[in-house]
Amino acid sequence: MRTTRYLRPYRFILIVCFLTGSIVLTSHLLSPLRIKSAFVRSHSLTYRIDKRFHVLHQHFHHVNFSMLLQRSSLDETPSITYQCRESCGGWGDRLRGITSTFMLAILTQRRFYIDMPYPCNLTRFLQSNLYDWRPIVLRSNRSQLLIKTTRSSQIASVIYEKISSSNFIDDWSIYDDIYIATNSDYIRAALRNKRIQHVVKLLNFSSDELTQDRVFPLLYEILFRPTDAVLNSVDQLLSNLQSDTFSSKRLICLHIRMGKNPTIIHDERRSYRDTMVEDILRFTETNLTINDQSIVFVTSDSLEVNRYISNRYGSNQTVSVPGPIIHIDRLSPSYTYKKQCDGFQKVISDFYVLGECDALIMSRSGFSEWGSRRRDLSHQFDHLYQYCRGVYQVTGHRWKRPFHVC
Ligand SMILES: *[C@@H]1O[C@H](CO)[C@@H](O)[C@H](O)[C@H]1NC(C)=O
Ligand SMILES: *[C@@H]1O[C@H](CO)[C@@H](O)[C@H](O)[C@H]1NC(C)=O
Ligand SMILES: *[C@@H]1O[C@H](CO)[C@@H](O)[C@H](O)[C@H]1NC(C)=O
Ligand SMILES: *[C@@H]1O[C@H](CO)[C@@H](O)[C@H](O)[C@H]1NC(C)=O
Ligand SMILES: *[C@@H]1O[C@H](CO)[C@@H](O)[C@H](O)[C@H]1NC(C)=O
Ligand SMILES: *[C@@H]1O[C@H](CO)[C@@H](O)[C@H](O)[C@H]1NC(C)=O
Repeated sequence: MRTTRYLRPYRFILIVCFLTGSIVLTSHLLSPLRIKSAFVRSHSLTYRIDKRFHVLHQHFHHVNFSMLLQRSSLDETPSITYQCRESCGGWGDRLRGITSTFMLAILTQRRFYIDMPYPCNLTRFLQSNLYDWRPIVLRSNRSQLLIKTTRSSQIASVIYEKISSSNFIDDWSIYDDIYIATNSDYIRAALRNKRIQHVVKLLNFSSDELTQDRVFPLLYEILFRPTDAVLNSVDQLLSNLQSDTFSSKRLICLHIRMGKNPTIIHDERRSYRDTMVEDILRFTETNLTINDQSIVFVTSDSLEVNRYISNRYGSNQTVSVPGPIIHIDRLSPSYTYKKQCDGFQKVISDFYVLGECDALIMSRSGFSEWGSRRRDLSHQFDHLYQYCRGVYQVTGHRWKRPFHVC
């Protein structure tokens, strides 16, 4: 452990373990209500997040955490801000952009901020965890660089080229504040850039960790913790996993992304999805075993699909996060601000549930791919499948989907 700041979640884990441990030992003395509350606590999202961080810290113990966490509290420090004030992609795209930008801030030793008021203030759903990224008002007379790659793939590749092969740390040093709107992966490019290896080496990542996929789980947990609003909705859902005893039912998760459909009329059409629902359900029934020891979690961009699955397995066997289904980047003018916020909250809550699945069938989508990266590191690929013109098992980091478009 290299920083004292880092000690905090650790201590918390020990206390939680101690508490739940002692409750388990004396459980026969307790009322059913107390037993239920002990179960709920030890399966709560907070508990799971603390445990996950403990595992991540062990897994990445060789990494220079003080460099990842370092930040000056002075307002004058040069900065990099991830900016999403208008159309900048769905949650999967945004996570790609946020973690890329965070890595660029670490390498350039700049203060990192996230500015995402669109379509509703992100801070309602996610708070800073070990790194305080909440935006401040920076003085306007400072020199600024604006980089926006979300509208133009040509600009995205120019920036990619710069980050892969030039000393962008020096080149950018003339700017006080850099604002980046992107949904690209620049982590691999930056960490392999020969011109800045003197800085990359300080982080001490191992050679197989130099990709966004590998460092994503660590960067995500360093940055984010859910707010109470999200914790409550996820905990509500997870409480359905309690079986008669202390044991937990298996959580089978389905992410069914249909593309343009009556629920999200402004979305783009997606191909090869005509038989997706039936294919996924048939696979779930034959390969994953739905019984009284399992619960099916559904997140879909189609209300109709949600209802269909819930009818098929019964409301006892199916769970989903309540709230309106929206695409946070393809809004309808008819949405109220409240609907945008409630819909965004559902997106973040669904994302957290995807990290807790015993079995997970993903659509081809950044949303569920990043969600799956949050699964327990030693079981990250257990019962992990992707629908790509059929259901395929994702076998490991090197797995490639059978078709490019699916
Ligand atoms: C850097 O990582 C290697 C393992 O990849 C480890 O043996 C070494 O101790 C680390 N260096 C520091 C300074 O932590
Ligand atoms: C860790 O990073 C800091 C910069 O934040 C650097 O000063 C220090 O030398 C690094 N530690 C190691 C062991 O490389
Ligand atoms: C977003 O929330 C933060 C703190 O919760 C607040 O300081 C900020 O002003 C809000 N931004 C907008 C655009 O509402
Ligand atoms: C920017 O303005 C502040 C006061 O608002 C001033 O103290 C500072 O010197 C100015 N910086 C530059 C670079 O002009
Ligand atoms: C659903 O669960 C309730 C309470 O656990 C039970 O009484 C009911 O029979 C179940 N319904 C079905 C269709 O299994
Ligand atoms: C699903 O089960 C069938 C029949 O046992 C098997 O042939 C198939 O390979 C399984 N599919 C996957 C993706 O594991």
